[in-house]
Amino acid sequence: MAPARIRVAVIGVGNCFSSLYQGFEFYKDRDEDQIPGVMHSSIGGYRAGDIDIVAAFDVDPRKVGKPVGEAIFSAPNCARVFQADVPAGPVVQMGPALDGVSEHMASQPEEVGFRVADAEPVDVAQVLRDTQADILLNYLPVGSQEATEFYAQAAIDAGVAFLNCIPVFIASNPVWEQKFIDAGLPLIGDDMRSQVGASVLSQVLQELAFDRGAEVEFHQQINIGGNTDFNNMMVQSRLASKKKSKENVIRSQNDIRNIPVPKDSLFAGPSTFIPYLRDNKVAYLNLRLKGFGGAPITMDVKLSVQDSENSAGVVIDAIRYLKVARELGVVGALRGPSAWTQKTPPEQMMYADAKFECEALARRELTASVRRQVPPLDVTTAS
Ligand SMILES: NC(=O)c1ccc[n+]([C@@H]2O[C@H](COP(=O)([O-])OP(=O)(O)OC[C@H]3O[C@@H](n4cnc5c(N)ncnc54)[C@H](O)[C@@H]3O)[C@@H](O)[C@H]2O)c1
Repeated sequence: MAPARIRVAVIGVGNCFSSLYQGFEFYKDRDEDQIPGVMHSSIGGYRAGDIDIVAAFDVDPRKVGKPVGEAIFSAPNCARVFQADVPAGPVVQMGPALDGVSEHMASQPEEVGFRVADAEPVDVAQVLRDTQADILLNYLPVGSQEATEFYAQAAIDAGVAFLNCIPVFIASNPVWEQKFIDAGLPLIGDDMRSQVGASVLSQVLQELAFDRGAEVEFHQQINIGGNTDFNNMMVQSRLASKKKSKENVIRSQNDIRNIPVPKDSLFAGPSTFIPYLRDNKVAYLNLRLKGFGGAPITMDVKLSVQDSENSAGVVIDAIRYLKVARELGVVGALRGPSAWTQKTPPEQMMYADAKFECEALARRELTASVRRQVPPLDVTTAS
């Protein structure tokens, strides 16, 4: 019998998807226990190469109508090409544009802006049913509130799990979570926390300070980049949810320990768009602490990454957590995997606690917290 595959549909064939799709091919024959660049070689028996893209939705005429294997290399995408030889895959279909493309992005030059095709959108829920998708992966531009809600509802209507990689609050919104619970579906969200990115770095530095008894007077995380994600966030109204989501990561470390966040003590957000940088994102962190006797401690960290590959490194795991959760009958927002792979999960966790939850699920074990999300309980359990 052929091994089981994970069937994924994607919304937004942009840079993050380009890196992810290249990664499926890049890692497809790797089955050793430790694969450089990948956090988990196996999650519940699924390997990085066990994922198939069965449908893709976009609105840009440079992508709609092309096989995904070609569309990922079309402008304005600028993610690094590390695996040029990829399968053609399904043809990108026209989705409803709704609020996905801002006036700002539509008026930008071709190489850094979006365009909307003059085509009728397909019936998204019907495509999801026809292709028997297990998971719908959301990679829409920041600020796509209406479009994200539309696609989330389509996932529910078609009986498909949802992986929300953007800062529109779905998994962390109890009203939306309840809709997925009622439909008997799991979801992960919201807004990716990249593999070795600024968010997880801010988190562990804040944890380190608190664990060593230091007071955090100020924590700043400034991000710059040159891809369409950064260009799109030049519109202040679209940027707001991203800034909130980034600050949530730092704030959560105070909340977990009941340490108040002093006024004006934290800043985290995308700061500007510099086209020259393309997909190279640079983050500048500055932490000002008070240690023993009130002694000042300062940390300045510069992090330089390929933004989209860094995000694919968590999504390749999140997809597999969702599939395993579906098989185990877990419904609602997955607490551990959301805290491990997303900036604004329904429940923030300490780094070690989120890792513990994910590794238990990777072994197909249900921790006490996850058991509460399984109606009825009839699977292997672990505490
Ligand atoms: N490290 C990271 O790159 C990172 C981390 C966290 C979150 N994110 C978020 O992930 C999302 C995707 O990032 P990206 O870099 O791939 O963005 P991108 O700008 O490269 O791609 C967005 C794609 O969505 C398409 N689109 C716009 N409206 C649409 C609609 N209504 N229906 C279907 N498609 C539509 C665009 O044409 C484009 O192809 C962004 O919201 C970003 O903030 C990225």
